Amino acid sequence: MVELKSREQIERIREAGRFVAGVLASVREQAVVGVTLRDLDAHTHAMIDAAGARSVYLGYHPSFGAMPYPGVLCTSVNDAALHGLPSDYALADGDLVSIDFAAELGGWVADSAVSFQVGTPDAASARLIETTERALAAGIAAARPGARMGDISSAIGKVGRDAGLGINADFGGHGVGRTMHEDPHVPNLGRAGRGLTLRPGLVIAIEPWFMAGGDAYVIDPDGWTIRSADGSRTAHAEHTIAITASAPIILTAP
Ligand code: MF3
Ligand code: CO
Repeated sequence: MVELKSREQIERIREAGRFVAGVLASVREQAVVGVTLRDLDAHTHAMIDAAGARSVYLGYHPSFGAMPYPGVLCTSVNDAALHGLPSDYALADGDLVSIDFAAELGGWVADSAVSFQVGTPDAASARLIETTERALAAGIAAARPGARMGDISSAIGKVGRDAGLGINADFGGHGVGRTMHEDPHVPNLGRAGRGLTLRPGLVIAIEPWFMAGGDAYVIDPDGWTIRSADGSRTAHAEHTIAITASAPIILTAP
């Protein structure tokens, strides 16, 4: 069931979103060569506790996970695209890191992700990240009342396909509210003019993730980490947004 949020409720999600944005900015600062993914997770856990927030990742156990999620961050490096577990892996020069973070504050959830390079950047990774961010912006721009879900999906997919990137629509965006994953699903591929009609009060996470190579992915034996099947690099960008009578509001903007 798709639930529309009031102005007041959207303002509460905005507060959770400000916290999420602040954490992502801080993690990005901490993510330098030699720092482990577990260090980033511990840093985030401390920020959650200090803010009186609550992790919606820790212990999360959907049917596809071999075990409950063991961290408060998703840390996906290079060929890992989504749901990378915070491990003892130490960041190396040139790594492409995607950090996905959602938390609950005051009873409301916000969800956002960023991708960036550690140390010395390379042009191909920079282009992959920039294209993913541009797809997110295109999806947000399409999130207008009266438009359809397929307009968002096709806007995202077109940016990725025009750049020749791999796209797989098995994992995508979602409604956000009291919980992290609500209806509706927000696919990263679709046909304009189809699907749910968008209305003011709809709060969704839009989250393109693209692969530099083909469209196929594989899942690690842990049941969580999603990697490009061909080992190519991947990038992910996500904001939680609210559809209003006018322009959409980015609730996870810094
Ligand atoms: N934040 C991710 C999403 O955008 C989901 C993370 S799964 C978890 O849908 F297990 F890490 F919680
Ligand atoms: Co999400």
